[in-house]
Amino acid sequence: MVTNTLTESLLAALENTPKAGVYVIQDGRFVMVNDFTAARSGYRKEEMIGMESTSIIHPEDRQTARENAISMLKGLRNTPYIFRTVSRTGEIHWITEAVSSIEYQGRRAILGTSLDVTELIRAQREIEELKALEASILEAIPHAVLGLQKGRIVFANPGVKKVFGWEPHEIENLDMRIFYPSEAHFRRFIRNLHLTLERQRVFYTEFTCRTRHGSDIECLISATPIGDYEKDGRLVITYEDITDRKRIGRELEESRRRLRQLTAHLEDVREKERAYIARELHDELGQLLTALHMDLILLAQHTKDYDERVRDTVCSSLNLINKITESLRRIYQDLRPAVLDHLGLTAAICWQAEEFQKRTGIRCQIDIFPEEIKLDTNRTLTLFRILQEALTNVARHSGAKEVSITLKQEKGQIVLTIKDDGRGLAKEELDKPNSFGLLGIKERTFLWGGNFSILGKENEGTTVSVSLPLG
Ligand SMILES: Nc1ncnc2c1ncn2[C@@H]1O[C@H](COP(=O)(O)OP(=O)(O)O)[C@@H](O)[C@H]1O
Ligand SMILES: [Mg+2]
Repeated sequence: MVTNTLTESLLAALENTPKAGVYVIQDGRFVMVNDFTAARSGYRKEEMIGMESTSIIHPEDRQTARENAISMLKGLRNTPYIFRTVSRTGEIHWITEAVSSIEYQGRRAILGTSLDVTELIRAQREIEELKALEASILEAIPHAVLGLQKGRIVFANPGVKKVFGWEPHEIENLDMRIFYPSEAHFRRFIRNLHLTLERQRVFYTEFTCRTRHGSDIECLISATPIGDYEKDGRLVITYEDITDRKRIGRELEESRRRLRQLTAHLEDVREKERAYIARELHDELGQLLTALHMDLILLAQHTKDYDERVRDTVCSSLNLINKITESLRRIYQDLRPAVLDHLGLTAAICWQAEEFQKRTGIRCQIDIFPEEIKLDTNRTLTLFRILQEALTNVARHSGAKEVSITLKQEKGQIVLTIKDDGRGLAKEELDKPNSFGLLGIKERTFLWGGNFSILGKENEGTTVSVSLPLG
């Protein structure tokens, strides 16, 4: 028979087709399979002959595969259908199959041809997953995300509702101008956008935008072109409403400023009070003690011939008065060193260093340049208090043997440095919750618009440095 011969020789030619499965089924069993079919199923060709053709189909797909095959054979369907096969080792492949009736070795048979589309299905799945991921990201982002083409909105995520009050579908195809308070605003925005995108891939800016209901909001905007921006004019642009954040930031800034003012004010009041008490102690108590001292000297002269006990008492009273005077002097000097007011910062530093050395036994080196620095009272006081605080820390925390103090006037600023050779402050120590000494130094410096730095090196000491602008 001509047809048979033709079919058989055709089949023989398809035996080795590398990409397609070709097989013939009679009475529900394979009577011929090509190499590809056998390889995909994990059997040898001889093994497959006689096997039920449905046995290699995934059990869940058997029924539909059979139904599809029947409707194709009946001419009710002419497109291939998809199902899964399971190989001998359990591997799953996605197959598209087409069947037709033929005569094979003198009997009716079914010719099946199939293509392995596993990779295609996998890629499609991946694309679908990516799309789903993209959709859920866009949905989850609390910002407005827009796709634009030549200034028209081609895509909007649900975030536009949250940020601008628009439903995404309402603004599709509208001009992006709707987000800006005026034409002038919009033009300014676009000009900056163009200028930036000529040089870089992403444009960030903070800009005033307008909501659907006409209120103005501060937005953090980022825009990135898709593909060639010059040519296609496609952009992805996101708007984040930062109105509250900006307001909170401003309020925080304002409250910090006020707190600084308050601190400065309190500091000022404290200094004045200290000066006042020091003066009172010096003038009032000091004079009274001087008078008492003179009286006692007079008394001592008159009691020369008295009993030894009386003379001893007068003498020890005089000693006591001297001690009280000495204590008093220390107290008012601590409160407000007279040298500070009368002789200036250089002398006050020398005096303080000497006192410190006497009290702690830690050697003090002083280097002041130029020797005579003329400074206003407020800066003088600030630097002096900073020096006192830094020296207190050296005595309390450093275990140093020596400390060097330098004061330099250079390039319109005055720089005070206190360097010890102690254990060296560690970074974590800067954040101790109840340490206000360093914080005080910092605040005092910032009040003048100056700089503060502290640097510790383990076992090599700590250096505190402040600089205040002059004039
Ligand atoms: N010269 C220094 N050497 C070593 N550690 C220091 C020095 N100065 C400060 N510190 C560390 O920094 C911390 C913070 O100092 P400070 O703010 O003055 O607070 P306080 O002296 O009340 O502890 C100190 O507790 C100490 O651990
Ligand atoms: Mg301290």
